[in-house]
Amino acid sequence: MNAQNTIDITIKQLQKMRDSNEKIACLTAYDAAFAKLLDQAGMDIILVGDSLGMVVQGNSSTVSVTMDDMIYHTECVTGATTHSLVISDMPFMSYSNIDSALYNATRLMQEGGAQMVKLEATQRQTEIVEELSGCGIPVCAHLGLRPQYIHKLGGYHAQGADTDSANELLLTATALEAAGADLLLVECIPAQLAAEITKTVNIPVIGIGAGNDCSGQILVLQDILGITPGKTPPFAKNYMQNCNIQQAVQNYITEVKSGAFPA
Ligand code: KIV
Repeated sequence: MNAQNTIDITIKQLQKMRDSNEKIACLTAYDAAFAKLLDQAGMDIILVGDSLGMVVQGNSSTVSVTMDDMIYHTECVTGATTHSLVISDMPFMSYSNIDSALYNATRLMQEGGAQMVKLEATQRQTEIVEELSGCGIPVCAHLGLRPQYIHKLGGYHAQGADTDSANELLLTATALEAAGADLLLVECIPAQLAAEITKTVNIPVIGIGAGNDCSGQILVLQDILGITPGKTPPFAKNYMQNCNIQQAVQNYITEVKSGAFPA
């Protein structure tokens, strides 16, 4: 059973930050030691990402990550945090229909202690987002490059590069907001499109590889520490430059808040 700590950052505060143009700083974490370090550094959001399949388990994609993996790592993180809002990823096929989405999102919140769940979304997921949101489950919808679709997409490529797919992404973003999403995360889309989505919707938009006109930024922890097993994405930045881990995390927060990252 999770401790269900009370935390400082709520979705209301994230919305206020977005409304007052204060950038939202986010990083992933998967264990108590790093979660505590990020929490104490003042990180706004910690994502227990299914990227753990790659950076913790050493696999080549996120597809093999299970609900039990997510609950275990989410519990490690939420037990160590009192400041940052913790989002937990719904893994591959855990939200293929409304019933499984409700069941698995409930597990992430009740057993893992997550304060929000994230799912990779196209227009197809609007009904699921509506149902989760209507049941009181805060939702982050992840658009653009959706790593769980790797075998369908045929590779980790930028999305929304042509007019049709850019329009489709803009429509999807507004549909997900209307369905009750509290947060959008856009991955690997053109900066101009990310800026347009951020301007169009009224909820915070967190970017990764999507330029710096979003409401905030997220990176994978191992990427900023320069210890990613395998290839580091081109949009990531190694903050371990003649400093310790605490200072690297602090520098990342400072650069996100000031808009210096991404350059
Ligand atoms: O799983 C994850 O860590 C993510 C980030 C790359 C945004 O979804």
